[in-house]
Amino acid sequence: MRAVVTGAAGFIGSHLAQALARAGARVIAVDCLTDYYDPARKRANLEVLGQYPLVEIVTGDLLDLDLVGMVEGADVVFHQAGQPGVRLSWDDGFPIYSERNILATQSLLEAARSTRLPRFVYASSSSVYGDQDRYPCTEDMVPRPHSPYGVTKLAAEHLCRLYSANYGLSTVSLRYFTVYGPRQRPDMAIQRLVQCAVDGDEFEVFGDGSQVRDFTYVGDIVAANLRAAGADVAPGTFVNISGGSEASLAETIELVARASGAELNLGHGPAKPGDVARTGGSPELAHRLLGWEPRTDLRTGITRQLEWYRNRSAKKLSRDGTAA
Ligand SMILES: NC(=O)c1ccc[n+]([C@@H]2O[C@H](COP(=O)([O-])OP(=O)(O)OC[C@H]3O[C@@H](n4cnc5c(N)ncnc54)[C@H](O)[C@@H]3O)[C@@H](O)[C@H]2O)c1
Repeated sequence: MRAVVTGAAGFIGSHLAQALARAGARVIAVDCLTDYYDPARKRANLEVLGQYPLVEIVTGDLLDLDLVGMVEGADVVFHQAGQPGVRLSWDDGFPIYSERNILATQSLLEAARSTRLPRFVYASSSSVYGDQDRYPCTEDMVPRPHSPYGVTKLAAEHLCRLYSANYGLSTVSLRYFTVYGPRQRPDMAIQRLVQCAVDGDEFEVFGDGSQVRDFTYVGDIVAANLRAAGADVAPGTFVNISGGSEASLAETIELVARASGAELNLGHGPAKPGDVARTGGSPELAHRLLGWEPRTDLRTGITRQLEWYRNRSAKKLSRDGTAA
């Protein structure tokens, strides 16, 4: 298999590119190392990928690269690149979200169309649902995003669907529900909690802690992508990839405290605009169409994330110690 992974230096993209390389695929790993969070973390992810001889790393922005040349001859594009997170998508953040989530996706879809790419897998989001009247969310519900970020993810999902409808491009949009695990982005709640447990950072609870998330382990997300690459599904398919580990923020704090044995230093702040009260997705369609189901429960996943972060901190400490 010849695969293009965009956003390959990021949290999810780096896991996916690594899994593909391990399975013997030729991978073009693309990323422009945006500064949404410390690019050093992304460089470290690329270093891991660079150890696989079948991985070619391309550093550049999707809006500048020769995408036709890059996509030509590929069997599948896994489009993970994007500007994530709801909180910065307001105000003057919006143009960046529009560029990285909508315009970049449109450019890639054009390249996919003109090269007759066999399969385009898009990293969509549970944020397309917004706040709904009933849960778990199913794919037949009318999406109504609650943040500008969600609007850009939905716009890109619609672009995938209409390139399918008009040009027969075989797209599959995977609506990820809160992804966590080793290498998780540092702005996300579980990673902030892990850093609170290991480094003693303060964790600020936004709102009253009652907000519920349907957490999905990153290994399960990788598995869903691999299934989506080869599944016999109609062009334009969109499907929930939800982990089935629903927990409130207060329960998540408790789980991290128990798994780490640490006393967490908690602060309190107001709820953030754009944050929904609850996410929860039915994984039934994913099971039916892709033969996929989540395998990692929240307790196990948190333990792995803690272990990864502790090892990473220990290595950093010994490196910095040697250098000093
Ligand atoms: N993490 C989650 O819980 C979650 C949930 C739903 C959807 N998603 C989606 O999954 C994808 C990956 O998310 P993540 O958490 O790994 O984020 P991430 O920020 O770690 O990874 C995204 C990567 O894309 C790169 N990128 C952004 N714009 C680019 C461009 N124009 N050209 C080249 N590279 C570019 C960034 O440098 C970054 O490394 C995103 O599209 C995100 O919207 C993530």
